[in-house]
Amino acid sequence: MTTRYRVEYALKTHRRDQFIEWVKGLLAVPFVLYSEPTGVFGDGTDVDQSAAEAHRRYAEIFRDVELMIDDHMSRQIDASFPSKLRMLVPTAGPFFTRLPLEAAFKYQDRKRYISSRRYVAPSFNDVRLVLNSAQIMAVTGGALQLATFDGDVTLYDDGESLEPDNPVVTRLLDLMKKNIKIGIVTAAGYTTADRYYGRLHGLLDAIAESTELDPVQKQNIVIMGGEDNYLFEYSQSSPHRLAPVPREQWLTPEMAAWGEADIAALLDVAEGALRDCVRTMNLPATIVRKDRAVGIIAVDPSIRIARESLEETVLVVQRILEASTLGFPMTNSAGMNNRKGSVSRARIPFCAFNGGRDVFVDIGDKSWGVTVCQQWFGAGPGRSIKGENTLHVGDQFLSAGANDFKARSVGTTAWIASPAETVELLDELAELMNKKLP
Ligand code: IMP
Ligand code: MG
Repeated sequence: MTTRYRVEYALKTHRRDQFIEWVKGLLAVPFVLYSEPTGVFGDGTDVDQSAAEAHRRYAEIFRDVELMIDDHMSRQIDASFPSKLRMLVPTAGPFFTRLPLEAAFKYQDRKRYISSRRYVAPSFNDVRLVLNSAQIMAVTGGALQLATFDGDVTLYDDGESLEPDNPVVTRLLDLMKKNIKIGIVTAAGYTTADRYYGRLHGLLDAIAESTELDPVQKQNIVIMGGEDNYLFEYSQSSPHRLAPVPREQWLTPEMAAWGEADIAALLDVAEGALRDCVRTMNLPATIVRKDRAVGIIAVDPSIRIARESLEETVLVVQRILEASTLGFPMTNSAGMNNRKGSVSRARIPFCAFNGGRDVFVDIGDKSWGVTVCQQWFGAGPGRSIKGENTLHVGDQFLSAGANDFKARSVGTTAWIASPAETVELLDELAELMNKKLP
């Protein structure tokens, strides 16, 4: 790896979503050409007309990208000829549904007045929210069967718990009422129900007390903890509303082939790498070792480890694990899972990520966690819920050091930035579902 490459990679690539950056770049041209920054001086510029013109041009660009994704989808099965989109954005893919980007842009423009801005160009967040709306539009109309949610930052603030007054509770119950299955797919890795009850009690108690959900609908939720390591089903009679499901009942054949000795050996290597990082950067951190994870957390909860140190730790640990013969990250540059050969190579997938205040290395990743939910709620063996019928909502979608990113390879996704955005997204979803499914 050349020094230049290392600088580019370590400082930039993992902190950018190349598809979103590319769309942002396309929108920058009409912004420069059609926005009227002088309009604020009252020089007679027709501000409404320039906003209308910018709107028309932005919408055209989103329509063109929409068509390019259609073309990409028609070629993604047979990879022998790359699509134009793949040539322009090599990391793009896979798409499970077409994305109505033009309609989604019009929706977001009505909310955010993107076209009326004269000094601030269409931003990363504008594009991210347009993509989310397009994805929501694509899965309504009967397609959505399973919605999976990350925990920290998606359902509640980082490190907090889902309290009864969290506005997301009524939205999740509403989905369950509509017979949509729910998976909470969190990295938080605990072996016992009481710990998950502690984090999710507001939701679990609301389900228990609900008179609108029938007993079958109440079973429409599972908790998948440690990315893909601990499964709990809802249990009305259990004190913590959850019952652990033994691994034999839900491991996929590939997961069942991950040997315990290899898992322990991988965690040993990861722990050694984490210890080295703590030493070399003098981090105020301590090691946490679990049966399916190892991480570093601050020695004192009031101390925040610098973001740069957390990111450096993730990248170092990831490189060391990739170089060892034990583990392999589950994604190639296009974000596709490379599961072929995982059994014969007996290498263990892992997920090293920056949790905001900590770094963890977990066995497996959320692509496996979501897959297990698809299988659990599928109608029998070999009849898992499909990617186009699944939506994973999370906050961590950067390509390195982020744990929701892996879910992209098994289903559609929405990238939110806060629990409040999750609520907005679910309201958008409910509005569309009520319209389309009276
Ligand atoms: P998520 O956002 O719901 O995926 O949760 C991520 C957070 O869970 C991490 O940032 C950690 O603070 C916390 N956590 C607790 N136990 C574990 C573990 O075993 N592995 C990974 N993260 C953990
Ligand atoms: Mg999160």
